[in-house]
Amino acid sequence: MNYEEFKERVRAESDIVDVIGRYVDLKRSGANYKGLCPFHNEKTPSFFVMQDGQFYYCHGCHKGGDVFKFLCDYNHLDFPDAVRELAESAGIEIPEKFDYGDSGRIKAGLKNRLRDMYKAAAEFYFSNLHSEEGKEALEYLKKRGITKNTMVAFGLGYATGEGTALYKVLKDKGYNDEELKESGLFSYKSGKPRDIFTDRIMFPIMNRSSKVIAFGGRVMWDRLPKYINSPETIIYSKKNNLYGVQRAVAARKERMILVEGYMDVISMHQTGYPETVASLGTALTKEQADIIAKMARKVYLIYDADSAGTQAMRRAIPLLREAGAFVNVVSMKPFKDPDEMIRSEGADGVEVRIRNSDNALVFELECEEAEYDRNDPSENAGFEMKAAEMIAGLNDKFQRREFVKTVSERFGIDRELLAAEVNRIGDDALRQGGIIKRTKAPPAGRVNSANAKGRDVDTGHADERNVLLALVRDPGIFPVVKEFVSPEDFSSGILQEVADIVFDKINNGGTIQEGEIISRFDDEEQSDVGRIFCNDMYDNSDAGTKARFASESLKNMVIRRHDEKCENAPPEELAQLLKKKNELSNLIININPD
Ligand code: UTP
Ligand code: MN
Repeated sequence: MNYEEFKERVRAESDIVDVIGRYVDLKRSGANYKGLCPFHNEKTPSFFVMQDGQFYYCHGCHKGGDVFKFLCDYNHLDFPDAVRELAESAGIEIPEKFDYGDSGRIKAGLKNRLRDMYKAAAEFYFSNLHSEEGKEALEYLKKRGITKNTMVAFGLGYATGEGTALYKVLKDKGYNDEELKESGLFSYKSGKPRDIFTDRIMFPIMNRSSKVIAFGGRVMWDRLPKYINSPETIIYSKKNNLYGVQRAVAARKERMILVEGYMDVISMHQTGYPETVASLGTALTKEQADIIAKMARKVYLIYDADSAGTQAMRRAIPLLREAGAFVNVVSMKPFKDPDEMIRSEGADGVEVRIRNSDNALVFELECEEAEYDRNDPSENAGFEMKAAEMIAGLNDKFQRREFVKTVSERFGIDRELLAAEVNRIGDDALRQGGIIKRTKAPPAGRVNSANAKGRDVDTGHADERNVLLALVRDPGIFPVVKEFVSPEDFSSGILQEVADIVFDKINNGGTIQEGEIISRFDDEEQSDVGRIFCNDMYDNSDAGTKARFASESLKNMVIRRHDEKCENAPPEELAQLLKKKNELSNLIININPD
């Protein structure tokens, strides 16, 4: 029997409500079940188990997946062990040998081998740091104020000066040439493999589940490049990971702190701020912003106090805002970076500076202000206009009102005039078809998923998720949906992949089970997919509400796609596009309740 068939048979015989019910007290909630989440502390249930879809999802901590994933997470099992355990409890005989023919399994196998390899490499570097050869490196870290505990917590290590030390170790452990090549840990430039890290302090980069997936390596002297990072591999994509995330997840704080460097993360954690993470040697990505905003709604930026740091913050702020976060900017002046500030002011310094931090919009306006000579009347007017534009860009009336007040006080702008101008910009934009790019305002309360009105805004893709949800629950609406969007219209990444699967299944008349779709994704991604499909409110709404939900989400999605087109359009096409935009805003998509 092939493994895939066996696994599906075990799945079919293991009802998820039954299995999870062995560990969690579940109560019926309309069509679904809910209970207190076993993965985080809570007093009111936000953990849902969907019997039809055979999956679970927690709105509080965002864990989710199919029945296998639950067992893996709950009992800390590897996937094959979870399958085995369920097979046993369902009384299914386990074949002695499987046919692992398909390439998917080979890839999964290689992933596991790479994870093991990175673990072995991290252990090797770690032991070097505490050996004779690592003396200088250890001294360096101590001089920078890093304690033994912190070194262990972050798994810091040392790559010796010998150019093939790691290669030999891994080769001895039985990894073959193809695996070693795939790891990205070696350079083959000279024809012979050489370690890419030599004589560097090693910073293992871990995923949320504390598995080492990459390394950064720092020199100990003023040599360039200061850091080398291991490349992307089948287990590591830079844009989807954050340095320090494994400890931030475990710390479960109500806020997140974002810094620039590995060293900053380490000294922040050591000082008592485990909610600190950093991007990985590149500017913050949209995906990273989404991850951060999902972990906590309030985000503090502590970047270097130089122009590079300021620029980096100005790029990061809109991404975080769009992801649904409230952003504040913490000043490090007169220090260079958090690491240096902490050495002088300690933990209290951090707390005081966080308390005195500025809202991101105020920070952005301060940056703008520097470009104007406010003693010159026309330049001053230009600045005030700029302030009005930025406030008008906020998506939420209450926020606009609050910022009119704050900004008028802070920057000495007439409050009534500012308010009037903000309103005028908004009205004009509406009249012209709304090309104004409104940033997404964070939700007023803690809204973790789409509600039945489709008003969710915590990742910026709510409408797309809603359309997928409606499609899966009510495939009858497919002909209408297909008329307006195709899988390419979904944002790249997970949503597009899910859309591909769903469109394909419905086109081919297949039955859809959410749990099965979820299981096609990596461990890390399963909760994101679970989130798309978990909407108790939708499941317990009447047909009319569901239809409105679907058509409104679809319409919003169509309009958003069109807006993007407008943004990138050459001027000569704009008039035409604007006309279309007006038509779209009057679009009525008719989805009939069945
Ligand atoms: P920094 O130069 O500020 O490094 O770069 P740092 O981690 O704060 O280290 P110290 O305090 O000077 O020892 C910030 C981040 O940019 C990336 C790394 O992720 C680093 O942590 N970086 C920097 C690179 O990837 N390569 C480089 O050559 C330099
Ligand atoms: Mn730095």
